[in-house]
Amino acid sequence: MFFELTEEQKAVRDAARDFAQNVLKPGVIERDETQTFPREEVKQLGELGFMGMMVAPEYGGGGMDAVSYVLAMEEISKVDASTSVCMSVNNSLVCWGLEKFGSEEQKQKYLVPLAKGEIIGAFCLSEPEAGSDATSQRTTAVDKGDHYLLNGTKNWITNGGNASVYLVMAQTDVEKGHKGINCLIVERDMEGFIVGAKENKLGIRGSDTHTLLFNDVKVPKENRVGEDGFGFKFAMKTLEGGRIGIASQALGIASGSLELATAYSKERKAFGKTISQHQAIAFKLADMATEVEAARLLCLKAAWLKDQGLPFGKFSAMAKLYASEAAMKASVEAVQVHGGYGFVKEYHVERLMRDAKITQIYEGTSEVQRIVISRAVIDESS
Ligand code: CAA
Repeated sequence: MFFELTEEQKAVRDAARDFAQNVLKPGVIERDETQTFPREEVKQLGELGFMGMMVAPEYGGGGMDAVSYVLAMEEISKVDASTSVCMSVNNSLVCWGLEKFGSEEQKQKYLVPLAKGEIIGAFCLSEPEAGSDATSQRTTAVDKGDHYLLNGTKNWITNGGNASVYLVMAQTDVEKGHKGINCLIVERDMEGFIVGAKENKLGIRGSDTHTLLFNDVKVPKENRVGEDGFGFKFAMKTLEGGRIGIASQALGIASGSLELATAYSKERKAFGKTISQHQAIAFKLADMATEVEAARLLCLKAAWLKDQGLPFGKFSAMAKLYASEAAMKASVEAVQVHGGYGFVKEYHVERLMRDAKITQIYEGTSEVQRIVISRAVIDESS
């Protein structure tokens, strides 16, 4: 067992920290307030190689490992979870899925610009009536010979308004259940594709979450990812890695909360000493630090397993379950440590608290993670 990061991994972490503190932090309160998508900041992330971190260099990516991805996601998320969710979806759900399962033509046409950060991708699985129960897809992709005719509605789609490429899960053969689902690559300007309403959200308000509508969109057959009927497995396999990204986002919210609470507690005085010298506060910091460390270890373990080519689905679900609960707790405690100042925007912790909640919901709720983990535990014991 060896816990030390490589020099390369440390350099990635430091570059992400630098970008978060110097580029993202100055505008983060205003973007949250005005629900402004960080378009320019995402462009810069792309130029730095953070939008296709794990993609092979021959497809325009950074050729980095999943451990580096965790480190970068943590640093970006400490400051701006709206930017990090855009980064996570592009890296884990769109680029990874296309690199692993896409055809060579799809890789050249879509993966290369996505990995370079020249364009952004979106992953479209959730529907008005299919959230956790993802096999119940109502969006249809009727086979018309050389193309599919796509009809339906997708909900809660991250990057919905700013993406150029959308991976859309749709039912081709209802009789076959989840084996009748396909993943289709939809381009933004295809006729019949409409970007619908933007959500007005509690947290990650700078991110761009939309309903999408598909009215008789003709999607060429060559835009199907994988074999006929592979769409549901594609989504599940992709989400296994996506959960490492969101777990790391939650880790960043938790560790960001800890950093802010610690710094404030060393400055603020009450009853003749800094509040960090009061056990009531010091014990909160101790609990937060312990949970942050445990969350970090789970994220890194899931990433390390992925890098080794070993099964990691149980661990990415564990990392997401644990880190998202740690994020929720740590951000609530950070507000408490700040007292009244924690309740106003300038101190950043109220935003972290609002942003933390979504990490328990998207890419599978905490309940979905428990389904994944418990099934693995039961299977392993038989
Ligand atoms: N890898 C490969 N195949 C898998 C798999 C995996 N990780 N998980 C399931 N499958 C396969 C199963 O083997 C099964 O195939 P067979 O019938 O051939 O054996 C098939 O998929 C169906 O699996 P289940 O029977 O396990 O399906 P289920 O209906 O019981 O559902 C579930 C399981 C875990 C609850 C799943 O539906 C799920 O993960 N739901 C949550 C969906 C989700 O995370 N949505 C998030 C949307 S994306 C998002 O949020 C992005 C964003 O914007 C930030």
